[in-house]
Amino acid sequence: MTRNRGFTVWLTGLSGAGKTTVAQSIVNELRASDINIELLDGDEVRTNLSKGLGFSKEDRDTNIRRIGYVSRLLSRNGVGVIASAISPYREVRDEVRQSITSDGSEFIEVYVQCPIEVLVERDVKGLYKKALAGEIQEFTGVSDPYEEPLNPEVLVKTDSESVAESANRIIAALEDRGLLRRQQLVEVL
Ligand code: ADX
Repeated sequence: MTRNRGFTVWLTGLSGAGKTTVAQSIVNELRASDINIELLDGDEVRTNLSKGLGFSKEDRDTNIRRIGYVSRLLSRNGVGVIASAISPYREVRDEVRQSITSDGSEFIEVYVQCPIEVLVERDVKGLYKKALAGEIQEFTGVSDPYEEPLNPEVLVKTDSESVAESANRIIAALEDRGLLRRQQLVEVL
């Protein structure tokens, strides 16, 4: 019996850049394959696994380490993990990468990029307005840092490409690494 090699797709980017939407789209595509997929989304993780954590550097790093830990356990059991969190600090992202790859699983970092001006304009959750008015402290991209990935495996630009385009490029990156075969998608359709 062979088992699929597990992997973690790690979506990083500013709030509102489209991480969750792209993640959902990948999950929907891959649910049709024979790979077990699990989604770990920052907003949801913060209601259970990371409940009580705030947005200081220390708490964000703790949040990311927890998501990374669960991703590692799932990945080494053949699960395809889609993790989505702002994860603004490079060092802890790299630490998670290191722990997952040294465990024998693949780590695919995806930078979900969107200019801050566009995010402020869209402001889907109304948080940028509040952050700019000083009503929310330590808001990523406004009053708190975001360290861009230097060498992400995939860069998606959500201001200029569709959700389907972004998701397809990420799925293509998984195929390129032999983690997914097109047949696995087609067979069950
Ligand atoms: S992370 O920095 O620890 O990776 P995470 O992705 O879990 O963050 O949570 C980000 C979400 O929390 C945002 O999409 C937003 O809805 C909410 N949020 C509340 N306060 C802040 C803040 N100060 N900075 C960024 N996001 C915040």
